[in-house]
Amino acid sequence: MLVKANSSRFSRFASPSIPKRIARALSRSKNRAVYCLSGYFLTHQRLPRWLFAQLRRFRPIFILGPFVIVTRDDDVRSVLTRNSDFELGEFARSRMLAGRFVLDTDWPRSHAAQLSVLHTAIAETDSREIRTIAEKICQDALTKADVHVDVAALARGVSMAVVEQVHGLPGATEPDARLQGWLTELASAIILMPPPGLSERQSVEKAADGLVSYVRTAIASHPPGQTDADLLSRLLAGVDASDAPDWLDHDWVTRMACGMAIFGMATVVRTASDAMDEILSQPEAVVEGAREAALRAQTDPDPLRRTIYEALRFRPMLPVLARYSPRATLIGTRDARRRIVKAGATVWAPPLAAMHDPRAFAKPGRFVPERDPAQSLVFGAGQHACLGQSFADAALIGIVGTLLRHPSLHRLPGKVGRIRYRGAAAEQLLVGI
Ligand code: HEM
Repeated sequence: MLVKANSSRFSRFASPSIPKRIARALSRSKNRAVYCLSGYFLTHQRLPRWLFAQLRRFRPIFILGPFVIVTRDDDVRSVLTRNSDFELGEFARSRMLAGRFVLDTDWPRSHAAQLSVLHTAIAETDSREIRTIAEKICQDALTKADVHVDVAALARGVSMAVVEQVHGLPGATEPDARLQGWLTELASAIILMPPPGLSERQSVEKAADGLVSYVRTAIASHPPGQTDADLLSRLLAGVDASDAPDWLDHDWVTRMACGMAIFGMATVVRTASDAMDEILSQPEAVVEGAREAALRAQTDPDPLRRTIYEALRFRPMLPVLARYSPRATLIGTRDARRRIVKAGATVWAPPLAAMHDPRAFAKPGRFVPERDPAQSLVFGAGQHACLGQSFADAALIGIVGTLLRHPSLHRLPGKVGRIRYRGAAAEQLLVGI
């Protein structure tokens, strides 16, 4: 009897579901820890910058089994521009929850063909319109506010207005904030994908479903005669063109409209908040220079652009760009640094490391607003370089410029004035006025 009782108790504890449940809980905890830690280092970049500097000094091409990190500016650029040796699709595909996008297309002809349709759908006037939208929204908010404004909230408002008016997704600025929530979740997931099993992952997957059906409805109810009003209209006009290729159909337009809206949303929120935070962390002379650049931006935006790009050199939204090596290849220059990268290797090409390489950026630790933005790797390089750079540029000049032109804009003291992130997305940056 005793034996029986013990054995039944034993079998209860030894039931395969319990070890399995423990293993699952442990794996979930590990995933959460990795997710939180990655989010921290994507948004707090001092330590990674220091670590990359040490690698650049002692092991510029660091190889550990199938994992490679390059830290010199020339090697980072080489990885990003040798598209057939270092591919992106492998990594990007699992992040494109709203369907395949140009970012996960490596095949050069298919990528170039899709990109050319997207380029045609971007009108020359779009950047001007985006800057006007950004300046108006920020100016109105500054006029209404008493003590402070939230840079992240302003940038969210600007991005949603751009999604509605320039991308052509109706209802983006309506009080129902579902679209904004979906886009924020999905854009953060491109920077940092929550691992399976976490509640954040389920929420991102739901956001992708919500966005896709929203865009499908927008396409189904799109006024037929409207062919040039916005990005969506121009993409749909391409489908109806007599020489449209087979792949250019409503499904492709849905995926591109989703991708462009996702890429266009939280990216601007994060970079506008980071750029402002970085500028306000600088000595008074730099902040004063930024103010003067903002005041001149109406006639000449270049000095303000340089200041913003310099701020983002310290805080690139994507500090690391990952690539996959489909076959063995060489990396490095023809001296002792030349190394073999094995087939199947994961290669990290960090803009954060490259943009602090003293060979390419003199005195990299100093904030020098005169640096040439064309040298920046904030928007990537090579085949997959950012398609929306002109959009982001215009939004950043509009948001950061309007705020800096306010005569009493200042950092709020203490914790309240510190930037707050949620995952990899900027959540709040309160600045005093
Ligand atoms: C300041 C904000 C932005 C930053 C910092 C940024 C940065 C980047 C970077 C680094 C890449 C390359 C990724 C890689 O090589 O792995 C990229 C690609 C891309 N970005 Fe942006 N981006 C921003 C805003 C935007 C906006 C507003 C749009 C669209 C409206 C956009 C659309 C795209 C697209 C479509 C690609 C993929 C291009 C391709 O694969 O050919 N981005 N972005």
